[in-house]
Amino acid sequence: MGKLPLFPEQASTIAPDVDHLLYFLMAVAVFFTLLIFTSILYFAIRYRRRSEHELPRVFHTGLTLEIVWSVIPFGLTMIMFTWGADIFFRESRPPNGALDIYVVGKQWMWKLQHMEGRREINELHVPMGRAIRLTMTSEDVIHSFFVPDFRVKQDVVPGRYSTLWFQPTKPGRYHLFCAEYCGTKHSGMIGWVYVMEPQEYQEWLSGGGAQGSLADAGHKLFEDLACTNCHKQDGSGRCPPLAGLFGQTIQLAGGGSVKFDEAYIRESILQPTAKVAAGYQPIMPTFQGLVTEEGILQLIEYIKSIGPKPATVAVPGAQNGNSTPRNR
Ligand code: CUA
Repeated sequence: MGKLPLFPEQASTIAPDVDHLLYFLMAVAVFFTLLIFTSILYFAIRYRRRSEHELPRVFHTGLTLEIVWSVIPFGLTMIMFTWGADIFFRESRPPNGALDIYVVGKQWMWKLQHMEGRREINELHVPMGRAIRLTMTSEDVIHSFFVPDFRVKQDVVPGRYSTLWFQPTKPGRYHLFCAEYCGTKHSGMIGWVYVMEPQEYQEWLSGGGAQGSLADAGHKLFEDLACTNCHKQDGSGRCPPLAGLFGQTIQLAGGGSVKFDEAYIRESILQPTAKVAAGYQPIMPTFQGLVTEEGILQLIEYIKSIGPKPATVAVPGAQNGNSTPRNR
């Protein structure tokens, strides 16, 4: 089917599965369409009115027929449902160890950042055979990241993170589209995904100037925005030390808890008083307008990178139960 221009290339692990389901749906649709149309034609001829005064006979169908035409469509739709749900679940759950890449959509371009620090616009370079996880957000309106050859599409929504993953199986160049109407130049919001051999990808990554990793950029931003004044690593600041918090569940002032993840970090930067950590005062100012979506992603990557402190290093005051009230 790959040669038929009707179908995009199958260039990811999920692509053949999606296509098989599509072929099944098409086969069912074609079968019943033909069945219905030929039946209509047949009955129209077979039971045509033969004279002006002919009255039709009344038919009473049996229970068996009712059951048969209920059970068969039910079975078929259940096959479609379970098959589709299986693909949907696999497509929604990125495997562990996936390569993280950050995407920011903007009228009318795609901005992409690699962990190692390389940044691209409307082009995405990825290694072949590796699961790639995109964490995406938008600076303005809703966009949608769509690569037909990978059979993946995901909305990119302002104010939140959505994820998309795929595992490319063939080196080459694949079209990237915006699949959500987003303004005048929506149709121009396109680009290319380059799938490279792992070796080639490594060479590509190390090229393009020494910009430092995403976490480094985040670290610099963290200092430029003076976050360090309050979020002191040793816990002596008025805000919580952030090392090792990523992925944890933290308690909130006023009860409840929240997972310390990308969405929570983003919210805390833009609306700091929305969910304040227990034991701290809501004194953090908002950074709305001071930091771009890309900057927030860099900060997230920095906060992720400052993993838990080695257990051997005892830091007084860093644990909870500290009596002096501090701020997040
Ligand atoms: Cu972005 Cu359409």
